[in-house]
Amino acid sequence: MSLFQHFKANGPSGFGYGSTAEQVTEGLSLAGKTILVTGCNSGLGQEALRVLGRRGARMVGTARTLEKARQACAALTDGTVPLACELSDPASVRACVAEVKRAGLRLDAIVCNAGIMALPKLEQAYGIELQFFTNHVGHFILVTGLLGQLAADGRVVMLSSGAHQRAPKEGVQFDNLSGEKGYRAWTAYGQSKFANLLFAKELARRLGGTKRTANAVHPGVIRTNLGRHMNPIANLVFGLAGPLVLKSVAQGAATEVYAAVHPAVAGVSGAYFADCNVAKCRPDAEDPALAAKLWKVTEEIVARLPAQ
Ligand SMILES: NC(=O)c1ccc[n+]([C@@H]2O[C@H](COP(=O)([O-])OP(=O)(O)OC[C@H]3O[C@@H](n4cnc5c(N)ncnc54)[C@H](OP(=O)(O)O)[C@@H]3O)[C@@H](O)[C@H]2O)c1
Repeated sequence: MSLFQHFKANGPSGFGYGSTAEQVTEGLSLAGKTILVTGCNSGLGQEALRVLGRRGARMVGTARTLEKARQACAALTDGTVPLACELSDPASVRACVAEVKRAGLRLDAIVCNAGIMALPKLEQAYGIELQFFTNHVGHFILVTGLLGQLAADGRVVMLSSGAHQRAPKEGVQFDNLSGEKGYRAWTAYGQSKFANLLFAKELARRLGGTKRTANAVHPGVIRTNLGRHMNPIANLVFGLAGPLVLKSVAQGAATEVYAAVHPAVAGVSGAYFADCNVAKCRPDAEDPALAAKLWKVTEEIVARLPAQ
């Protein structure tokens, strides 16, 4: 909870900066719905799992390992399905997809929440910078693999970030996806979150003419394990200023939960949400050619990955 919430009015949705995931789902019954959340063992994903489960949804919670997913799901009802989905390991993502299909789960929402931020040094998976791979490519494999399981009115929610503004000036550096021609921690994180946003927009276009939707969200700024790679001084400042200026985890989970289940946005697709309202993103994120190029390049990356 922060001081800011007392100065920021709610938006047209009736919710805003200070709204929590519990508040945006108050009075909703999600009985009969099945919702998959990635990164369910920590931070915003853990809160989304808890609140959506509490409203009656059958939750599919994924984490890097089955053990972490099981632990996170332990507090929920018996029907909860814990699954391993290590996003930087295509075999793990594909196994997760296969398990959802094998279990015959029809998904009402897929919340692509997991992510890593601002790795201090260049790290790679399969020759691709690791934040881009984990945050974007891993979720690309997951979501495209699960489209056949998505309900006729199912929703895909991508956790982007206001940090998409920190992406390179060309949005995505297609000639430097390895990071080897130059690496800056925050630019790379921004690029991965810009990619999450472009992916949601392109998916929304591809789902056009159906009741299925895809949207991206900025959850706010919240002190979670995401900051583990921030330098100690920045972490100290975050720790001290947090209670004054940052959202709580309960507030941070509100926007993804709102986009995933609130009836008011059932037909909204291709939007960027912040503080539980449609918001403006960087203008070039609206460029359909850029989003289509990212989709094609990502397909090519995925096609080059080992089959198993
Ligand atoms: N917190 C913020 O201020 C903020 C602001 C803007 C956007 N976001 C976005 O919100 C989302 C949730 O962040 P958070 O703040 O809740 O962070 P968090 O507490 O660190 O949670 C991130 C989750 O992602 C999982 N994860 C990380 N790498 C993974 C991988 N390779 N495969 C599978 N899962 C992986 C983590 O698992 P482990 O616990 O096992 O590492 C964890 O469950 C992220 O996408 C982030 O970019 C957050």
